Amino acid sequence: MIFLGIESSCDETGVALIEAQASGVPRLCAQALYSQIDMHRAYGGVVPELASRDHIQRVLPLAREVLADAAISLHEIDVIAYTQGPGLAGALLVGAGVAVSLGAALERPVWGVHHLEGHLLSPFLSVDPPAFPFVALLVSGGHTQLMRVDDVGAYALLGETIDDAAGEAFDKSAKLLGLGYPGGPALAGLALVGNPARFDLPRPLLHSGDLNFSFAGLKTAVMTTLRKLGEQPTEQDRADLAASTQAAIVDVLARKSLTALKSTGLTRLVVAGGVGANAALRDRLGLEAAGRGFKLHYPELALCTDNGAMIALAAAMRWQRKGASADSGHHFQVRPRWPLATA
Ligand code: KG4
Ligand code: ZN
Repeated sequence: MIFLGIESSCDETGVALIEAQASGVPRLCAQALYSQIDMHRAYGGVVPELASRDHIQRVLPLAREVLADAAISLHEIDVIAYTQGPGLAGALLVGAGVAVSLGAALERPVWGVHHLEGHLLSPFLSVDPPAFPFVALLVSGGHTQLMRVDDVGAYALLGETIDDAAGEAFDKSAKLLGLGYPGGPALAGLALVGNPARFDLPRPLLHSGDLNFSFAGLKTAVMTTLRKLGEQPTEQDRADLAASTQAAIVDVLARKSLTALKSTGLTRLVVAGGVGANAALRDRLGLEAAGRGFKLHYPELALCTDNGAMIALAAAMRWQRKGASADSGHHFQVRPRWPLATA
């Protein structure tokens, strides 16, 4: 079975082809991605209307590219999968519209996929795929969640952020530090030459006894610290503040993940979403895993941020479990807000 995946929930247009047998890990045949980051950079963040307009221009050329790369013809596609939510409504509608049109023209089923399900299954395309069950730490620009994953489609929310997402904490702190968009990689870059112990920034909800997160207070602390540093903070001040901010975020993410592993008794941790690319987070979790004997799984770096491969993969793994999905009509639906536990 050949699955076409289309991702258009935010600022990346992704298209990919996955081939799956009735069992075994599906295979990525080809994937293509167009990132709108350069376009949004001028505005300091994603402009939803511009995102939608750009997805429309990218999605068909990217689809042609993956078909050519994989030497697969349009008629060989068995299922068309698209990101149904969560995400920006207008952006989601582009992927949904193209998917449903293709499905109607080719007389193939069209399946709506949950964006976060794509992220948490994405390590199955890595060289060291996880086994079920596992704890998933989903850390992106819009979400910060710990999930218990027993199987494809069996997701239980263990905890989530009550305000900003981890990626947002990176992005907003980076903006305060005068760094460009997206802030995560920029802040991580500056942090490389900074002292993470210089500023003692808050780690909210660290001892809350649950698995929820809160990052909104961090940007206020960054702002206050910057103010104390005066009009002209030195390069070293800024680097130390970047490193201390990153250390606070990483510390909370790592400790809550450890608590989730302990409370569930599970021994595998999957880390997915854009912030999963962060080297400091990976180093910390690597040290904890070595010390405590749990196993860590990441998607390949190219599949950490949004992409079409994870959407086609989620559809393929659902098909392997259940055969045809109930949701295979050619109707149009997007769900900008959609809790994963109900997917
Ligand atoms: O999963 P993703 O590509 O898109 C969403 O679904 O949100 O995640 C994007 C987020 C942004 O906030 C970006 O700043 C952050 O991931 N990010 C990073 C790194 N790379 C991307 N944050 C910290 N360190 C990184 N290396
Ligand atoms: Zn994402």
